[in-house]
Amino acid sequence: MLHITQRKMNPFKPTAGGEPPLLIGRERVVRDFDKGLDNGVGAPGRIMLITGARGTGKTVMLTVLGDKARAHKWDVIEETASDGLCERLVSELCSKDSLIDKLTFAPSITIAGASVSLGEAELSPKRMPETLRKAMSARLDALEKRDAGLMISIDETQAASRADLIAIATAIQHQIREKRNVSIVFAGLPQMISDLFDDEVITFLRRARTNVLANVPIDEVKESFAQTFEDSGMSLDTSLVEKAAVATAGYPYMIQLVGYYIWDAADARESTVISKEDVNEGIREARVDLDNAVCVPELHGLSKNDKAYLEAMAVSDGPSGTSEVAKRMGRSAKYAATYRKRLLDAYVIRQTDRGEVDFAVPFLREYLRGHMQKG
Ligand SMILES: Nc1ncnc2c1ncn2[C@@H]1O[C@H](COP(=O)(O)OP(=O)(O)OP(=O)(O)O)[C@@H](O)[C@H]1O
Ligand SMILES: [Mg+2]
Repeated sequence: MLHITQRKMNPFKPTAGGEPPLLIGRERVVRDFDKGLDNGVGAPGRIMLITGARGTGKTVMLTVLGDKARAHKWDVIEETASDGLCERLVSELCSKDSLIDKLTFAPSITIAGASVSLGEAELSPKRMPETLRKAMSARLDALEKRDAGLMISIDETQAASRADLIAIATAIQHQIREKRNVSIVFAGLPQMISDLFDDEVITFLRRARTNVLANVPIDEVKESFAQTFEDSGMSLDTSLVEKAAVATAGYPYMIQLVGYYIWDAADARESTVISKEDVNEGIREARVDLDNAVCVPELHGLSKNDKAYLEAMAVSDGPSGTSEVAKRMGRSAKYAATYRKRLLDAYVIRQTDRGEVDFAVPFLREYLRGHMQKG
């Protein structure tokens, strides 16, 4: 007889942008944004910058904030920076088939006079700032009729062209001056902050709320593991929860990987009780995926000397003094400084408050230690 049992799904989501079963350690950012929506035009939190290393949850955060805006009945436009960003924004701003528009009224969005169809001229780079501003105003006019606002989110901002950023920033700045119900959230790797802030044209972004997504506290990882496993029909010992949580170092992507592979190991044995072996195997597999998805690509574009600098850093358990790194490399401070700058610019390393250097990419130290001398 064929026995069909109801099998539970693995609740963990170790994929880029995959919404985790529980969002750990980000209450303040979400609340800040939500309050910004509640508190009306001009409230802080409506203009937000979100940065963090790869895999810290920037894309997920944009999704969560977008959901908050939708819950306020706002329209949400979600974009990722790449060539043609502003053209795409304009066409989304003008699109008439957003669900709410269909349900409530047929808006007549007028751009550059009366036409809805955009000619080549309106989309030319030179006209883009004006076109975008008009498209935004037209959409806000329509939204205002039902007391709603517009949220725009831009992911991977570090990849945006300067021209696109200027067009977006000036259009938003215009709406803010006009006291319109608008919100914008930029997410990207930390170098986006210096790109945005160093630009004289986009100075108003200096007043934006900046949230740096860091690793989350281990205690919160423990709680979330305990709850997620239980909710999905798996039981495990407190000491195993602790071990699993510690192995993640609080790095969001690793939390999902470790959870996923532990769950999978128990599931493969058709057991609902997680064993010590499941936890060990889960952590091992998670590390392999992490190395391949994060560490290998980060090192890929680097030169031999860049790597030598990183290996010299990996000797320390924490941040290293820059002269110490040079000494370990057997090079002059000036020589080492060249590679330090290259690695800072590539955001593989970061400078600490005390002027030392540390890894900006989670688990890179461990990876290098495991692979040094192996070629
Ligand atoms: N607060 C969180 N708690 C638990 N897991 C999280 C959290 N935020 C993100 N994750 C998980 O971390 C992983 C990476 O998330 P996400 O893709 O949003 O990161 P990212 O910062 O956008 O990365 P990248 O820079 O590569 O685009 C996903 O598997 C996601 O489920
Ligand atoms: Mg992302």
